[in-house]
Amino acid sequence: MNDYPEIEWREEFRTGISSVDHEHRELVGLVNNVICLMDGDDDDREAVLDALGDLNAKITAHFALEELLMRQASYVDFVPHKEDHEGLLDEIRDIMDAFEGGDYSERRAEFISHLTSWFVTHFSTMDSKLHRAGLDR
Ligand SMILES: [Fe+2]
Ligand SMILES: [Fe+2]
Repeated sequence: MNDYPEIEWREEFRTGISSVDHEHRELVGLVNNVICLMDGDDDDREAVLDALGDLNAKITAHFALEELLMRQASYVDFVPHKEDHEGLLDEIRDIMDAFEGGDYSERRAEFISHLTSWFVTHFSTMDSKLHRAGLDR
């Protein structure tokens, strides 16, 4: 049984930067896949680790794109935005470490809620501000 709802695409996520919006839609699909597998009954650790690996690879490339756009525009909030990106990468590493350390099962609900809230909050605040800052020129 799945207790956690999928993240649904919202208009407030739109940045107006087509490359960023395209990647955000892909990322919503990847994170929903991770959440669905983590929340599933069958506790398939290999599948969760594979899905986390896919998310990690895609999001690392995505952060590089956004950080390049911000640097090129001398974006004023570059540092806190990059720090928030690094917070998610730390979270993904924590989940992977929890598999190794054996406390994944106890922390599973915490991980799912952190992942969900990071994406919804980051997309609708920090990323949507990129549009208002004129990075979509
Ligand atoms: Fe983003
Ligand atoms: Fe971002």
